[in-house]
Amino acid sequence: MKLKIAQLPGDGVGPEVVAQAVKAVNAVCSRFGHEVEYSFALVGACAIEETGLAYPDSTHRICMESDAVLFGAVGDPKYDNDPTARVRPEQGLLAMRKSLGLYANLRPVETFHALVHQSPLKEELVDGADFLCVRELTGGMYFGEKGRRDGGDTAFDTNLYHRFEVERILKLSFEYARQRRKHLTVVDKANVLESSRLWRQVAQEMAPLYPDVTTDYMYVDNAAMQLIRCPKWFDVLVTENTFGDILTDEASCITGSMGLLASASIGVHTGVFEPIHGSYPQAAGRDIANPLATILSAAMMFEYAFGLMEEGRAIREAVAASIDEGYVTEDLAGDGTARRTSEVGDWIANRIKES
Ligand code: IPM
Ligand code: MN
Repeated sequence: MKLKIAQLPGDGVGPEVVAQAVKAVNAVCSRFGHEVEYSFALVGACAIEETGLAYPDSTHRICMESDAVLFGAVGDPKYDNDPTARVRPEQGLLAMRKSLGLYANLRPVETFHALVHQSPLKEELVDGADFLCVRELTGGMYFGEKGRRDGGDTAFDTNLYHRFEVERILKLSFEYARQRRKHLTVVDKANVLESSRLWRQVAQEMAPLYPDVTTDYMYVDNAAMQLIRCPKWFDVLVTENTFGDILTDEASCITGSMGLLASASIGVHTGVFEPIHGSYPQAAGRDIANPLATILSAAMMFEYAFGLMEEGRAIREAVAASIDEGYVTEDLAGDGTARRTSEVGDWIANRIKES
């Protein structure tokens, strides 16, 4: 198969971790006989420096012309403490999601047995946890009307949802639940928010169409608690954009390191595959960041963008082997045994080629 992949490394540790994922992609392509063609584009702070825009048209064109986008991270401390900045790196990511129609963000939380001792939670609570967070990605407060009034002293963000947006994300979630352990939890704040009541109403209308799936409803504050009390209870969790942003950072801790959590953003046009850890500016250029989340995002790319399940599995097996052998970066390693980002990338690529 011929694979057209756009590399958008972005800012911070993005370029380093994407480079390791590319090694894994190349290894898989040579082992399974696929031809891969890369293009490169700017997004985030680096794009602002070059072009004045966080997601320039040229980048959008490259994404549209590709079959998948491998994305690193955006963000730069320079903008974080400047609420008056007119263009921000994060806008690049939001514009990319919106213009590619990426309404579903899939964030699987899988635990690795060899790492459960790293979790801030008790091992017995965590070991075996395996659930999928489905976060709505192009609606809600992130994109609803926002602004200031009263000369700037009043501010608002609108949590707007249309029925069709709720229906399509719930449909995906029911279908994923069907392929998994047939348990869907719809997370909302329907005791307070009108938008949440629409979500719950639509979910209750759709649930009878999936009689094989057990559907339950949970308020987001309770969900934040249950995720750390009994993570193994969850199978598929679906929620709106802002709640999903917050809950998935929380969920990422369960496994022991945020550097392990991969994600896929899918929808209308080209899918984007990215780690959830962000730009981690303190580590940028130091060859210490954990590349596993990005490498696992490449595995999701094979599975979700190309339907190449064997190839995805080959990457996952190599990642699991590196963890089992303790060939990992400093966030996961014991004293004195940490490997560099690039070493872990090389090790995994070799492992893929040799298996
Ligand atoms: C994420 C990030 C983004 C978000 C930021 C960088 C805009 O936190 O992908 O979770 O809030 O969606
Ligand atoms: Mn986030």
